[in-house]
Amino acid sequence: MSDPLTAHRLARDLESVLLTQDAIQSRVRELGALIDRDYAPDDEPLLIGILKGACIFLSDLLRAIPRHVSLDFIATSSYGAAVHSSGQVRLLKDLDKPIEGRHILIVEDIIDSGLTLTYLKRMLSARRPASIRIATLLDKPSRRKQPLTPDYVGFAIDDLFVVGYGLDFDERYRNLPMIGVLKPACYQKMV
Ligand code: PRP
Repeated sequence: MSDPLTAHRLARDLESVLLTQDAIQSRVRELGALIDRDYAPDDEPLLIGILKGACIFLSDLLRAIPRHVSLDFIATSSYGAAVHSSGQVRLLKDLDKPIEGRHILIVEDIIDSGLTLTYLKRMLSARRPASIRIATLLDKPSRRKQPLTPDYVGFAIDDLFVVGYGLDFDERYRNLPMIGVLKPACYQKMV
């Protein structure tokens, strides 16, 4: 078996691996089954991916839900090149179609302060969907500034600076197949 720290060249920048590729894939399969179980047989949920971080999780989760689903995307920005959320949410790209009467499943890679999803939930609720649920791969409940509880959580984690599987630092490391803690030397020179 190969060493996860050397299996991908960029993984050399990790201090430690928090979640292996296998652990992530297995949890995503479980989440897909849970989500499928929770919707009524004829429901066709609209999965809304929050760009860019959620794109990897969304693409795997989508394939773990054995029913018809639709797909759309929203882009927000809150972090820039900083290690922690700036607290400012900006809408960079809106949905392509109206969502009135639709069952919405918002798909995120990580919830930190909760500001992004509080903003998005309010914005989407005003468009009168049939329901709104939230699925996040990672949750950092200790960082919450808004009381937000996701419906589906892959992993609750401590307040660590993690990258990989869609999560970036200054747009890098999204393509790591695992999730890990970045070596401080890799970000200290940029913050
Ligand atoms: C990250 C993440 C969430 C948000 C969570 O996005 O993908 O959308 O921050 O933080 P919050 O709970 O404190 O609001 P980011 O702005 O870094 O953009 P990205 O997905 O393009 O990396």
